Amino acid sequence: MSKSSKRVGVLTAGGDSPGLNAAIRGLGKAALGRHGMELIGFRDGVRGLAENRSIDMTPASLSGILTVGGTILGTSRDKVHKMTVDGERKDMIPTIAKTYEKNKLDCLVMLGGGGTAKNAMRLSKAGLNVVHLPKTIDKDVAHTDNSFGFSTAMEIATEAVDRLHSTAHSHHRIIVVEIMGNKAGWLTLGAGMAGGADIILIPEIPYTVESVAETIKARQDRGTNFSVVAVAEGAHDVLAHAEIDAAKTLKKAADSREAKDAAKAHLSNVRDEHREHTFRLARELEAATGLDTRVTILGYVQRGGTPCAEDRLLGTRIGSAAAELIADGEHGIMVASRGEGTATVPLKDVAGVQALVPLEHSWIKAARDVGTGLGD
Ligand code: F6P
Repeated sequence: MSKSSKRVGVLTAGGDSPGLNAAIRGLGKAALGRHGMELIGFRDGVRGLAENRSIDMTPASLSGILTVGGTILGTSRDKVHKMTVDGERKDMIPTIAKTYEKNKLDCLVMLGGGGTAKNAMRLSKAGLNVVHLPKTIDKDVAHTDNSFGFSTAMEIATEAVDRLHSTAHSHHRIIVVEIMGNKAGWLTLGAGMAGGADIILIPEIPYTVESVAETIKARQDRGTNFSVVAVAEGAHDVLAHAEIDAAKTLKKAADSREAKDAAKAHLSNVRDEHREHTFRLARELEAATGLDTRVTILGYVQRGGTPCAEDRLLGTRIGSAAAELIADGEHGIMVASRGEGTATVPLKDVAGVQALVPLEHSWIKAARDVGTGLGD
């Protein structure tokens, strides 16, 4: 591969995820070493890009970060087309385009999840050369086998489910463990299955408390007086699910700025009403089964700390592949993980598309086959 004099920008955006630094290192080492490029890091996601807060990435800044959690660049959840600046929402795309020019960039690499794919698409449409690398513990980025962060989070959540088993068993209790995943249930399903949770509730399958209680009572009838329920933060019972769906439909149908704002506020109120659903579920299960019930929310523990081997490998593979694609002049793409290798996917196929768990997915079938309750 011939050396190029390309200048490449890199940033990390959205929720942090184990494996981000491995991907920055994979991209950086290949870009600086193998391809002879220059690499400029932008701090705190697209906000740092809008504010032109950059650092030169040297071999020294890439050294020793493979095993480090979080992101050395910092992150934020801003949107390029409506960023809050001095208390006002502003379209920062023109400002970002200026940063891109000032830094004489040939390409910008954006590491992030679904929101970042949309930001990448917007910047690409504005004429910037953008490459997106899929990161999220939720595994919900479309058209990639996996995203870095997921495997580590699944290990952490699985260990938690394992540990909760022995305490649930000792106290003859139900333990409801809430696992991250607002829209997609991959993490809860994966960790719930690997940890042997008795019931797994995910956003894709609305549950009824009766069904969950029945599974627990059937266990009681067999002489097992404890249960572990793995519930995704975005899982809902059928009624809440219907209310949220109706609010979403209203939002989609809104045909003016005012109607859109009102529908958005309504949806956010409805979501807020159901935010503490895990505690409600625990109370209802206690009432229905007579078993003492406790809640454990895993929260940000799932995103923190050192990445597992799988995520280090994935970050390195995707990052280094991105450097090679940039050297070949590719942009307007996401670099996906496909089997043992990588594949390119046009940004337009990724932005705005969420990879939810298909109801016919083999994990769901396997869970049902081993008698796990899915609440339906
Ligand atoms: O997207 C990753 C994720 O951890 C989700 O599982 C979770 O719903 C969300 O981020 C939490 O977002 P925040 O970091 O903004 O609280």
